[in-house]
Amino acid sequence: MKKMVIGGIILIVALMAGTYFVAGDAFQSDDYINALTMLGAFAIIVITVFTVLKYVNQIKNDTATGELADESWDGIGEFKNPIPSGWGIIFIGTIVWMLWYFFIGYPTNQFSQIGQYNDEVNEYNSKFEKQWKNPSKETLEAMGESTFLVQCSPCHGVDAEGIAGKAQDLTHRISKEQVLHIIKNGQNSLGYAMGAMPPLMATGADAEAIATFVAGGLKGEAPAAFSACASCHGPDGKGMNGMAPNLAEYDETLVTHVLEHGKKGAIGTMPSFKGRLNETQEKAVAAFLSSIKAQ
Ligand code: HEC
Ligand code: HEC
Repeated sequence: MKKMVIGGIILIVALMAGTYFVAGDAFQSDDYINALTMLGAFAIIVITVFTVLKYVNQIKNDTATGELADESWDGIGEFKNPIPSGWGIIFIGTIVWMLWYFFIGYPTNQFSQIGQYNDEVNEYNSKFEKQWKNPSKETLEAMGESTFLVQCSPCHGVDAEGIAGKAQDLTHRISKEQVLHIIKNGQNSLGYAMGAMPPLMATGADAEAIATFVAGGLKGEAPAAFSACASCHGPDGKGMNGMAPNLAEYDETLVTHVLEHGKKGAIGTMPSFKGRLNETQEKAVAAFLSSIKAQ
């Protein structure tokens, strides 16, 4: 017994020293809440060690009493003591509570708020799909504009001009700096079927000429070096029917790829909108972006 108490005290001191070593500066701060928390931790250590000591002691020294049953299982006997009444009441109470829970309290097919919410969302979605099955261009643009104002304008600005260079100016397809950045570093974030855009497809004066040409909207004569790009983006830069991004304008394929995958680029990170916009809404924003470019 004495040995155990000494062991317990050593354990307490060790645990307290450990706690002090890790978080002792709590005492030095002006915040008395930290110091109280520390004292609480010490109290928990003392109480825990003494509780454990009490039960270890009991396991070691207590002897059971009562009348033994006749059976012996491999030398292990059993007392005929009645079960403690508190235990019995809780055991039966648990069974009663379980029956109440499943059959009266919360039967499985009962009303639930989550169920109601899901039903309403599904109902609304099917209504949306029916109503906007074949939207006209004007409808798409109008829908795209309102979606844009809610979802995109916080970064791209209400007029889509990109708020002080923090996000892309969407009235213009791409800037020269961005094209140079992509030529130098390559890019692999949009999930096109063609995969990644390799880095360093052009360098130096060639890269400059290409970037000026692409940022200028691919108008006029293409610089000779653009042939390196044309192999994937097409001679007109329009991405060969969605194999690679369209460099000339925001077409539906590009916008849906950006919305699905997000984009990390020279300006920053565009978050993915996967699951936040449905297909019609994605088409609508694309239609809206094409319409603002046209003006
Ligand atoms: C091997 C095929 C390939 C070649 C060659 C190639 N690209 Fe790309 N390019 C891609 C792919 C694929 C992507 C989309 C990458 C992604 O998933 O982010 C891309 C993306 C881009 C983008 C970014 C579009 C955007 O808005 O995110 C620009 C700009 C670009 N390429 C310009 C060029 C230029 C300029 C050249 C020539 C110097 C070139 N590419 C050569 C395949 C190619
Ligand atoms: C959290 C800010 C943020 C939000 C919200 C946001 N964007 Fe962007 N977006 C960006 C940034 C930053 C870029 C530039 C990425 C880069 O460096 O190329 C970008 C780029 C783009 C591009 C050009 C990508 C390319 O490859 O050329 C398109 C298109 C675009 N966003 C459309 C949208 C649409 C549509 C929405 C609304 C549904 C939207 N964005 C919402 C930050 C945002």
